[in-house]
Amino acid sequence: MIIAIDGPAAAGKGTLAERLAAHYGLPYLDTGLLYRAIGRLAHDRGIDLDDAAATGAIARALTSGDLARDDLRGREAGELASRVAVHPPVRAALVDFQRDFAARPGGAVLDGRDIGTVICPGADVKLFVTASAEVRARRRTDELAAKGRDVDYARILAEVRERDERDSTRATAPLRPAADAVIIDTSGLDRDGAFAAAVAAIDARR
Ligand code: CDP
Repeated sequence: MIIAIDGPAAAGKGTLAERLAAHYGLPYLDTGLLYRAIGRLAHDRGIDLDDAAATGAIARALTSGDLARDDLRGREAGELASRVAVHPPVRAALVDFQRDFAARPGGAVLDGRDIGTVICPGADVKLFVTASAEVRARRRTDELAAKGRDVDYARILAEVRERDERDSTRATAPLRPAADAVIIDTSGLDRDGAFAAAVAAIDARR
């Protein structure tokens, strides 16, 4: 069974995907990490993030070691990721790796922006996990504050909106639900509620 999960920044996809993978005994690929690693490498090497050819070359040479870096999770890496993710050569370089992962015997869970639309259009179940920009910004602010970081809600909200805009309006593989995706709006759900809604959707479809 292939479970494709897409949705905007900070909607709770990652947590949900990981929990679903454990529940169904499937391997999990966080595809955002691929773009984050490329963004970081480009930044480290002083490469212009708007240079499609140069960032595409980095994507083609990506190694598992690059994905194991410990500086890929934060906001800065997310921002770098969304800038390199607009380039067709970057996206093209990652297609086979993601499809091979999905094709593992037994299936897999993948999360990202274009899993149900481009990477695995034949996935058994497609979930589009979303929430209002305000709720997502509030969650991210609370998460960072819990880690002792000094954060400003208004600034996080502006970042969330900016990333939504860039991810949804790019020409290649824009963020949008597949026609046959089940939409899970987590605005009024906690983690357990989102998990229960996803399990119900998956069990109904498979
Ligand atoms: O966790 P969060 O939603 O903040 O970010 P992420 O899933 O790690 O993705 C970071 C950025 O990578 C996104 O804003 C997208 O621009 C890009 N991305 C993408 O274009 N396609 C994917 N399949 C996954 C991520």
